[in-house]
Amino acid sequence: MSVTHNLFFLSIFNFYVAKKFLDDEILRYLETHTYDQTMVFFSVSRMSIARIRKRNKVKIMPEKIRVAIVGIGNAASALIQGIEYYKSRSNNIGLLHPTFAGYHISDIEIVCAFDISIKKVGKDLSEAISENDLELIGKVPNLDVKVQMGNILDGVIDQTRKLIEPAEIKSIDIVNELKISEVEIVLCLLPSGADEAVKFYAEQSIQAECAFINATPTAIAVDKKFSRKFHDSGLPLIGDDLQDQFGATIVHKQILRQMINQGVEIKESYALDVGGGAESLNTIHRSRGIKREIKSKSVKSSLNLKAPIVAGTSDYVPHMKNSRNSMLWIVGNGFLGSEIILDLKIQTKDGPNGGAVLADVIRATKIALHQGSSGAIDEISSYGFKNPPKGTISIEKAQKNLANFVLGIKNQ
Ligand SMILES: NC(=O)c1ccc[n+]([C@@H]2O[C@H](COP(=O)([O-])OP(=O)(O)OC[C@H]3O[C@@H](n4cnc5c(N)ncnc54)[C@H](O)[C@@H]3O)[C@@H](O)[C@H]2O)c1
Repeated sequence: MSVTHNLFFLSIFNFYVAKKFLDDEILRYLETHTYDQTMVFFSVSRMSIARIRKRNKVKIMPEKIRVAIVGIGNAASALIQGIEYYKSRSNNIGLLHPTFAGYHISDIEIVCAFDISIKKVGKDLSEAISENDLELIGKVPNLDVKVQMGNILDGVIDQTRKLIEPAEIKSIDIVNELKISEVEIVLCLLPSGADEAVKFYAEQSIQAECAFINATPTAIAVDKKFSRKFHDSGLPLIGDDLQDQFGATIVHKQILRQMINQGVEIKESYALDVGGGAESLNTIHRSRGIKREIKSKSVKSSLNLKAPIVAGTSDYVPHMKNSRNSMLWIVGNGFLGSEIILDLKIQTKDGPNGGAVLADVIRATKIALHQGSSGAIDEISSYGFKNPPKGTISIEKAQKNLANFVLGIKNQ
């Protein structure tokens, strides 16, 4: 065998030995350090670490994302069911990202929960979620997390009192509960329009040193005072008003964009929906105006449209429960001014429609915590929310900005 041949085999041998050596080192380091510390220490990407784990078939307990949920309603039920449903990893249908930022959806762990309904407080989360309109698609095992009594404030109005049935119990010490449960992220799923309660839990979150995700339309992430408070406390703040995975807002934006791209001039449009459940009742009675403003602005500003657009909830239909029917109407002018009319109906279920986005947003917030980002995080907010602090941008841009954020690349 020639010298060149020998050198060739030697270099291949060295390559594999070096790789094996590095794999072992990284895996050992990972046992006691976070993904991010490992990435920095070895100058490797999150993806490389995931590949090393896969290559070595090593079962390392993944780092969990410790979340508290405030408001164990339909959206919470969908998320909790999703964490169980996708645990087997054999089925990724319906997820935006099976693994996101190095985390699987089942790495999300709900460790603390608050509600005020007599039907939910004191029960294990797995049982409490069955008290909602959204049916259970499978049995959720006992999660060993008791729903604790929260602070009612304006969480209940006359019209929702019968549905919610508020418990007459004193609120638990929220900050203390968050601390002893070692919560990293507080996810706020309170009813629409419960402004006082949402603000209260945001303050509690700061005191307990947790990041805060506001899925409600209450102005928190867009509120300069709140974003400064979170910034000064070194904590991420995400919101406001969760964007559905595939709801009227996204469909409305994308169809309008396509029509504009095809040279159609938009004359007028609306997207009105009807739904059941406490959320629709709350929207009708106290947040219809603000929700309509957010949704309409979200559609208009991402496309820079001047035409009149109205988007929002128009009625509450009790027997629809967690379902929502959205009616889309668009009038435009094409070649020779000929009229083009689009009339479309979308049927969705509220809870599940928020689940996939929540799963991504929680995982991205964990990255924000790792990176030490603080204040309102626009990259996450404009990806998953209808009213982000810096205004809405196109879906494609929001996805790109979030991907860069996760990779630690600064957006232009
Ligand atoms: N697809 C989605 O689910 C979606 C999309 C966009 C926005 N959102 C927002 O997410 C929020 C939750 O939606 P939902 O459908 O789960 O609502 P829901 O009405 O089903 O659940 C709200 C829960 O909060 C509880 N609650 C009320 N006041 C409370 C308090 N002071 N402390 C603790 N708990 C309290 C209620 O008992 C109830 O269990 C809403 O603000 C909604 O606008 C959801």
